[in-house]
Amino acid sequence: MTAELAARVRSAFAARSGYEPAGLWWAPGRVNLIGEHTDYNDGYVFPFAIELGTVAAAARRDDGRLRCWSLEEDAVGDVSIAELEPGRVDGWTAYPQGMAWALHDAGIGLTGADVLVGTTLPLGSGLSSSAALECAVGLALAELHGARIERRDLALLAQRAETEVAGVPSGAMDQLAAMLGREGHAICIDTRTLHVDAVPLELGDAGFALVVIDTHVPRRLADGAYGERRAQCGEAARILGVPTLRDVSPEEVEAGSEDLGDVLHRRARHVTTENERVLDAVEALRARDLPRVGELLHASHASLRDDYEVSAVELDLAVTAATDAGALGARMTGAGFGGCALALVAADRVAAVGAAVADAFTGAGLAEPSTFEVAPAGGARRHD
Ligand code: GLA
Repeated sequence: MTAELAARVRSAFAARSGYEPAGLWWAPGRVNLIGEHTDYNDGYVFPFAIELGTVAAAARRDDGRLRCWSLEEDAVGDVSIAELEPGRVDGWTAYPQGMAWALHDAGIGLTGADVLVGTTLPLGSGLSSSAALECAVGLALAELHGARIERRDLALLAQRAETEVAGVPSGAMDQLAAMLGREGHAICIDTRTLHVDAVPLELGDAGFALVVIDTHVPRRLADGAYGERRAQCGEAARILGVPTLRDVSPEEVEAGSEDLGDVLHRRARHVTTENERVLDAVEALRARDLPRVGELLHASHASLRDDYEVSAVELDLAVTAATDAGALGARMTGAGFGGCALALVAADRVAAVGAAVADAFTGAGLAEPSTFEVAPAGGARRHD
């Protein structure tokens, strides 16, 4: 977290509430290296937390109310925690209020709190600003009330906030990455067992960099396409006679292709091959075989574009332009339909790739994207 953001959040808290916060809590955004749309199929994901994130200044109250403010948003929240209910909140306050609801519902007695948040994450661009918000607030509320909650469990409560109060039917990858992120590592998470395998991702030493290309095309997660994919996966699993797509191999999907029909066959093919790509990427990274990681990123993008159909013109353009300019691999990252792409690039090609992507966008009459390097950072924590 930057000292500048910490100071701004601290003084804005004091200005709004009239007193000093009890502390500051930080949670990072994430980039998913590979393993997309697998988490709600009990599959594997391989994200890393990044240095951009959200900070919450907070203090406990005794009157059962949760008041919240944001440096970025005008809307202010002021609710009774006991009266919060699933599906009742709109706007940004759904995330902190959802977190309070989830903790309360899990039997953690919250006496109330004042919370003010600020972020260095671009909002709504696929770097999990909502999970960072939930996790920063969740950690703050838990610690202010002396609740001892495992990081994994807090991440799962944050996911409940997202699905049940904010109304986005997401998996748990983003919240797990925010809570369990480890500096210098990407974390391979088995979303069925929640087993975590931290794999060193220190590309600088090897002369490589990870570059995020933010297309600035807003993702509309709640608009139905995400939920539709999720439902299609459930239907494909039902036809194949298994609880989830985690329980079938790509070969079994091929064998069932007639029963599945074209669309469900392609959806299931994406999920099952993507699970294999995650495990291959873990192995390649451990072997420091970055060209192989690059190939897997490419294959993931093609699968998301053609089989899962969640890419966007801008994401495809970013991936093609980065590759043409020498990236070892590139793919959309996150839910898709807009948001960000990720490219694995030799350190001395970062500027050239950024320039090539910018040129490609202006040449196509599209607004210029932002391009920046990311490095794997630590998970949510108290600041001070
Ligand atoms: C969003 C969701 C995650 C995950 C990704 C796609 O980020 O919040 O749970 O499903 O999309 O991999």
